[in-house]
Amino acid sequence: MKAFVVDRYGKKRALRLADLPTPELRDDEVLVEVHAAGVNLLDSKIRDGEFKLILPYRLPLILGHDVAGVVVKAGPRVRQFKPGDEVYARPDDLRIGTFAEAVPVKETSLALKPRNLTMEEAASIPLVGLTAWQALIAKANLKKGQKVFVQAGSGGVGTFAIQLAKHLGATVATTTSTTNVALVKSLGADVVIDYKTQEFEEVLREYDVVLNSQDAKTLEKSLRVLKRGAKLISISGPPDPEFGKEMAAPGFVKLVMRLLSSGVRRRAQGLGIGYSFLFMKANGAQLREITGLIEAEAIRPVIDRVFPFESTNDALAYVESGRAKGKVVVKTK
Ligand SMILES: NC(=O)c1ccc[n+]([C@@H]2O[C@H](COP(=O)([O-])OP(=O)(O)OC[C@H]3O[C@@H](n4cnc5c(N)ncnc54)[C@H](OP(=O)(O)O)[C@@H]3O)[C@@H](O)[C@H]2O)c1
Repeated sequence: MKAFVVDRYGKKRALRLADLPTPELRDDEVLVEVHAAGVNLLDSKIRDGEFKLILPYRLPLILGHDVAGVVVKAGPRVRQFKPGDEVYARPDDLRIGTFAEAVPVKETSLALKPRNLTMEEAASIPLVGLTAWQALIAKANLKKGQKVFVQAGSGGVGTFAIQLAKHLGATVATTTSTTNVALVKSLGADVVIDYKTQEFEEVLREYDVVLNSQDAKTLEKSLRVLKRGAKLISISGPPDPEFGKEMAAPGFVKLVMRLLSSGVRRRAQGLGIGYSFLFMKANGAQLREITGLIEAEAIRPVIDRVFPFESTNDALAYVESGRAKGKVVVKTK
């Protein structure tokens, strides 16, 4: 099968289009014929080598974390899926590889594709949808009437998180540049801060939750908009000790993680705010819940561009530009 692979870690190194055998299928996996693959910054970061201590992949590695496609084969222990099913998923870490014609996915990480979405639309959802779900529901337990600040509302995570937070009944503030103000309003944002002309920390007060996806300065400023008892959840670092435990990282990596976040954790604690880092995980059960919300039209996909499979490197470069409005997808079939 054709696949885009990382031969060697390196900043902005192009992926190589290779001809490889289809990966072997484990008993609890289905083989998905890839119709479309979502592109994420995580793909670039892994290619650059930023995750090599945390996710020790063997090279060459087929990249790609989001898939929509059709089941072509099911392992002997698979119960819920059969050949012909239209599905979507964020495959598990250390088992990724959706920039390819086929990818094995664990049954427990898979869900049926929302009936009202095309393959390209479906492929745009799993990683960002699960990120928003795990941040706002699993970690923050966001409730009706609470106030949440979702940074970068026009990005992949932001476009989904705004809609999920509105569905939960929260008041949503977000940041974006002038050109994307209308987009985030159309998704339901109540308070829109144009970061080119305004400072969010001068506008927002007494928030219950911040979903931080930007740099360390933004993280620090986020502390000022939260009230006592609030939650600051970051998906862009720094990692916390819990994450080190979850990843079963080597001792020195755990220590580095503890040190990297010690400052923000201490300052947050002083203000009565809980800091936590989230590294999203594959989860078929949560993805099924997301399917329900999409089919009920509570959440819709936002796609900026669809690239042909051959142009996967261009798709990755476009995502790295940091200007994507919603998601970027590669159409494989
Ligand atoms: N830990 C995890 O599990 C996890 C999961 C998903 C993502 N992430 C991380 O979260 C971050 C965001 O991911 P993403 O996929 O949403 O990124 P993305 O889609 O590439 O974000 C692009 C968007 O960011 C906006 N943006 C850029 N600078 C901004 C700023 N200073 N303030 C507000 N908006 C700004 C841009 O809007 P304008 O053009 O209007 O500026 C653009 O629409 C990345 O670092 C990613 O690696 C982590």
